[in-house]
Amino acid sequence: MKHIIIDCDPGIDDALALLLAAGSPSLRVLAVTTVAGNRPVATTAVNGRKIMDLAGQRQVPVYAGAALPLGYAEARCNLVHGEDGLGGVDVGAASPVQDGHAANRLIELLLEHPPHTIELVATAPLTNLALAESLSPGILRRARRLLIMGGALRFPGNITPAAEFNFYADPIAAGMVLAAGANTVLFPLDVTSSAIMTPAWIDSFHQLGSACGRAAAGMLQAYAELDPLLHDACPVAHLLDETLFTGEPCRVEVDWRPGPTAGHALAWFGEQVGAAHPPNVLAMTAVRNDALLALVRGAIATLP
Ligand code: RIB
Ligand code: CA
Repeated sequence: MKHIIIDCDPGIDDALALLLAAGSPSLRVLAVTTVAGNRPVATTAVNGRKIMDLAGQRQVPVYAGAALPLGYAEARCNLVHGEDGLGGVDVGAASPVQDGHAANRLIELLLEHPPHTIELVATAPLTNLALAESLSPGILRRARRLLIMGGALRFPGNITPAAEFNFYADPIAAGMVLAAGANTVLFPLDVTSSAIMTPAWIDSFHQLGSACGRAAAGMLQAYAELDPLLHDACPVAHLLDETLFTGEPCRVEVDWRPGPTAGHALAWFGEQVGAAHPPNVLAMTAVRNDALLALVRGAIATLP
């Protein structure tokens, strides 16, 4: 049994990551923390609550977190996931989001559990994690691993030519988290660009005959029109089957400066890694996509 926390900005691929976790008995989701990203945090928090309720996980607390990125006066959102963040798909009502700021709850949960026992998955701008580290220096190193979807290393950005959205939306936080010295596994666009959804796979969710199957089909059909990639399911899938992905140690630093390269992830690989540029992440670079898609669908098939 792996104890996990998912920090996310639902967002359709975040929703799939939550459903994958909820449908996997080897994972115990201790909490879902949400942040401004794809949509404002008021939206992402309610969406996280809706998806966990849909999956029959009402007992898992969902917390709202940062409304603004570090150092910027407004959140950088997008409309890839629709105005409501879930592709306009009705996934049911939401029970109340729990009291308590996500950054504080991350600290409290990591302190309540023995060191190196919680897997912290992050599929959004890293503002909550950076705030937690700022409030309680060293707290991120208390996690067993950070499993982060973000960055574009030897790959073009998807929100600007230089940057992937999660790192672009809060580049200061991304830089802080990667510099925190935690055991970090990174899932950049270099690998998530291969996590390609097929129309047949999306259609197959209709055959499940369940509320979660119908919601997944509707959300994915809306999402695939703009971004047919299962970015955020990747870190959760790695927790379930560590043979799905291959990667290599590298050093990643994030350009936090305002301007055209904001959020750019500069990576040192191979012989470039060394004393001057010690590795700070295991960067995943390849995935067995058919197996990934089968894993996600199999987990969702177990949900109500
Ligand atoms: O670049 C992909 C990331 O940005 C994913 O986490 C997706 O949800 C969006 O937030
Ligand atoms: Ca996300």
